Amino acid sequence: MNTVKTIRDLRAAVAQARAEGKQIGFVPTMGNLHAGHAALVTKAAQRADFVVASIFVNPLQFGPNEDLATYPRTLADDQDKLLDAGCHLLFTPDVEEMYPDGMAGQTRVSVPGVAEGLCGASRPGHFEGVATVVTKLLNMVQPDLAVFGQKDFQQLAVIRTLVRDLNMPIQIIGEPTVRAADGLALSSRNGYLTPEQRTVAPTLYRGLQQIATALHAGERDFAQLIAAAQQQQQDAGFRPDYLEIREANSLRPATAADRQLVILVAAFLGSTRLIDNLTLDLDATP
Ligand code: PAF
Repeated sequence: MNTVKTIRDLRAAVAQARAEGKQIGFVPTMGNLHAGHAALVTKAAQRADFVVASIFVNPLQFGPNEDLATYPRTLADDQDKLLDAGCHLLFTPDVEEMYPDGMAGQTRVSVPGVAEGLCGASRPGHFEGVATVVTKLLNMVQPDLAVFGQKDFQQLAVIRTLVRDLNMPIQIIGEPTVRAADGLALSSRNGYLTPEQRTVAPTLYRGLQQIATALHAGERDFAQLIAAAQQQQQDAGFRPDYLEIREANSLRPATAADRQLVILVAAFLGSTRLIDNLTLDLDATP
């Protein structure tokens, strides 16, 4: 696996793979990789011949009081994991390479609709930062397909929308969330949790499962289900951010008639913000 730091070297390596007739798969990341990221690379390797991954902690998607400065940088370990998962080329640009004229004057990509509410409301500017860097990375790599985790459900919807709206000839693949044995969704931010917080953290997913069970049983009082789950979060030591039930395809607020649903949650444990989601099909047996 080669590691390149410049757009020029990236383009040259991808062009060579293309000249060899290879299909290109791409997995953008911010590093500090775990088994969830490895699953994205494995999926890309199954669907494409040449897998490119990127590691770039994108300042444009962090708010002023967020964890940009402390976000874990673990390049050597990440390189080992990417190699094991079947990655062929790693792109690790620095901020200068990505934003040579600074960020203030950078053209932005803003996705209406699906980027609003949920994390879009709690993290102003976040999805504009994500959409902008993903657009730039997709234009740099020009892959045939790109793989993203379903754990960031709203992010995946934003990326699917921008790829469609900007007519990019790229297939976007969503890969299921990888969980620890106790149900906690794997996330680089889990590393911020104290041992005690780590034992509490799976409560978040259990709450989603309880709501899903109630919905499957015919309960449709969404407000009541949400209030009970948020009370449970608070009792466990969380500070709830949002908990919403939405229609899974459009991400609009769900109605009692909808059959494809997604329950999305964000909550703080201490200063660590965790997110998770659970999709359910009410027409399928649970
Ligand atoms: O999901 C992430 O790690 C980031 O938001 C992404 C897609 C790599 C863009 O910076």
